[in-house]
Amino acid sequence: MNVGIIGSGGREHAICYMLNKSKKVSKIFCFPGNAGTDLIAQNVNLNPDNFSEVEKYCLEKDIKMLVVGPEKPLVDGIVDHFKDKPIRVFGPDKISSKLEGSKIFTKKICQKKNIPTSKFKIFESLNETLDYLRNSNFPLVIKADGLASGKGVYVCQNFNEAKSASEEIFNGKFGVAKQILVEEFLDGEEMSYFVVTDGKNYKFFGSAQDHKRVGEGDTGKNTGGMGCYSPSRLLNDLLDLKIKTKIIEPTLDAINEFGGVYKGFLYVGLMIKNNEPFLIEFNVRMGDPECQTILPTLNSDFMDILVSCSDGKLNQSNINFSNSKSICVVLCSKGYPEKFENNIQIKDLEKIKLHQNQNIFHAGTLKTKAGIVSNGGRVLNFVSTSNNFSKCRDEAINLIKKLNWRNGYFRGDIGYKVIKT
Ligand code: AMP
Ligand code: GLY
Repeated sequence: MNVGIIGSGGREHAICYMLNKSKKVSKIFCFPGNAGTDLIAQNVNLNPDNFSEVEKYCLEKDIKMLVVGPEKPLVDGIVDHFKDKPIRVFGPDKISSKLEGSKIFTKKICQKKNIPTSKFKIFESLNETLDYLRNSNFPLVIKADGLASGKGVYVCQNFNEAKSASEEIFNGKFGVAKQILVEEFLDGEEMSYFVVTDGKNYKFFGSAQDHKRVGEGDTGKNTGGMGCYSPSRLLNDLLDLKIKTKIIEPTLDAINEFGGVYKGFLYVGLMIKNNEPFLIEFNVRMGDPECQTILPTLNSDFMDILVSCSDGKLNQSNINFSNSKSICVVLCSKGYPEKFENNIQIKDLEKIKLHQNQNIFHAGTLKTKAGIVSNGGRVLNFVSTSNNFSKCRDEAINLIKKLNWRNGYFRGDIGYKVIKT
């Protein structure tokens, strides 16, 4: 079967790599992909937000399955666009995607189904918000309702910080804001937990912990993710059961009650305290860099999983992961997440010899006549799997050192909570 992948990051290169290993997959197309996907698939320079154009191309090239990497096309309704068309789309429909597209929608589901999450209030005007904040204890978390590329969340230590966050949101920094969310601050340790669902059944799809801050020791500005380790050190059988029964099952029930059809990955962002899970957020896709970290440990045929989900037959499909540990270290452009330069050549990337347990997934890279150049903040993902986290990290970092890219920056401490030094 010919398959299309929507997106251009490390997550999508990892998806492309896994699909390329499947005997069920003939040709892979990426909309638009990067220099890494270009090695194993055909990159298509087409705006993936234009669903009709994508459809036309899929019909022309006999693409029978589309896998959607990022959230935006899902929230914009790509799955609904392809409903009743002869092309399967792996991802949740528009109603289900509100789990990521509207934090207030998710909070209302939590309320209705008694799902453990932080206490919250919703306000519709700046004055109302400020009145509430004046009489509040801090820290508090202020959130814009809609998609904000991970930037619409402010952890505020005092009234002044909360005031400026509220002003930014109501002044439209993340698009027109009719409502704002003020949340209790949860302390504990974060975990990313994944399931894949066909709308009726769901199965575990890995756990991980990412490092969002740019600096070592989890300091400095938030980024898209500087690295990740999997599995999370926090997961155990009892916690797993609580996450499923208290959070995932009631949520999928609520989506069904709303008339949504959820076929895809569900990313459950959790705060764990005393072995109790609290929902921070849902994402309606795989995480990035969690996807690059988890997928290399999957032993089952990835295409089989996608097809069985799309056909509502996930219960007939086996999902097996190896017992390996995995670490992904992200190499980004110097200056990221603030100002950085693009178009810097990355020499000799193809000369790096990889062992079977190692991968380099591209993110912000571009193939040009002059060779591969950087094209974004997060540029390459170095992944290594083994029976030992310390070995994984050493191997990933050794690969980065071999590449010796002069514009690169990476964190040397990814996975420090599971690696004793
Ligand atoms: P979100 O986009 O909702 O995942 O929020 C981004 C990050 O903000 C999370 O990964 C947490 O680190 C932090 N965060 C969000 N909500 C809370 C909360 N209620 N308490 C503590 N930290 C939070
Ligand atoms: N790793 C965070 C995210 O994908 O949103």
